[in-house]
Amino acid sequence: MTHSLNRILNKKEQLGDRLAILAHHYQTDPVVEVADITGDSLELARHIEHLEAELIVFCGVYFMAESAAILRRPDQQIFTPEPEASCPMADMADPDDVRNVLQAIGSTRRVVPLTYVNSSAEVKAVVGEAGGSVCTSANASTMLRWAMDRGDAVLFLPDRHLGWNTADKLGLPESERLIIDPDTITPETAKNARLLLWPGHCPVHDVYDMGRVEQLRREYPGCRIAVHPESPASVVQAADADGSTSFLIRWCEEAPEGSTLIVGTEASLVNRLAKRYEGRKTILHLDMGWCEDMRKITPEKVADLLENIAQEPAEDVAEHVKFPARTALERMLQACS
Ligand code: 13P
Ligand code: SF4
Repeated sequence: MTHSLNRILNKKEQLGDRLAILAHHYQTDPVVEVADITGDSLELARHIEHLEAELIVFCGVYFMAESAAILRRPDQQIFTPEPEASCPMADMADPDDVRNVLQAIGSTRRVVPLTYVNSSAEVKAVVGEAGGSVCTSANASTMLRWAMDRGDAVLFLPDRHLGWNTADKLGLPESERLIIDPDTITPETAKNARLLLWPGHCPVHDVYDMGRVEQLRREYPGCRIAVHPESPASVVQAADADGSTSFLIRWCEEAPEGSTLIVGTEASLVNRLAKRYEGRKTILHLDMGWCEDMRKITPEKVADLLENIAQEPAEDVAEHVKFPARTALERMLQACS
């Protein structure tokens, strides 16, 4: 047993039910192994309020801990082992830019904003104030329909691929979609679009391409391919399935023994699945890429945090941001309950 693991287990024993460690599926194996709960973004957000624990250590990128801080009960405290673990996609939507775009195009039509949970609390607050909501990769279709039912157009942000792939699932014509330039958009340029897509992307999934899908199909005849919907539309369409990280885990679980499965998502998760099914199913990477920010959280940092938890500052969000951001998140939790 490593030194850090020992330190974490000691503190877990001392703190007992007062402590819960939550980890996203992209965390590395040593962090996942000490977690009490693992999940995709939606599952982790849903857990917060119902946890008995008052000390919650959130192992994931910053927007995840921030969402937990927005949804927590007043008696709970949220901690992150590494506040510098950001999400480059979330950083692609600045709250002032989102507010400006909504002002620019909202003068002539009712535009409902829908933000992917991979966004800052400030962006969620702007969206909540404008009557919009949040989605995750697990409920994007439900939430895009929710938003379309409430206005003339939807502004989806920050991930253009998730927005585009979800519009494909709902059968929205391509002629009614527009990838916007936030600096130059006007009511005139946006007037025919029912879905306005922010030009953000995830650096891990954005690089997947059709050439690789075709090459793998040739190399492994009969293989099946599943990808995360942050991947480009051509890749999602060429795959056999797509869905959230929890969906991808279930998809591997449900595949028959002897299958060859190609999984297009972050490498720590694919490696874990490959190890879990070794000798029974062959699980391969569509393309091997790590989320460098998720990997900033290490067992050493978890151990340091736990040993100093009484002195560590808990994550919090300013009240004027928290209230509208929580409204946006609660609209999602209610629509998908
Ligand atoms: P999930 O909601 O599918 O866990 O995805 C979060 C994420 O950041 C994927 O890159
Ligand atoms: Fe953000 Fe991509 Fe990392 Fe997910 S994998 S946290 S979207 S950078």
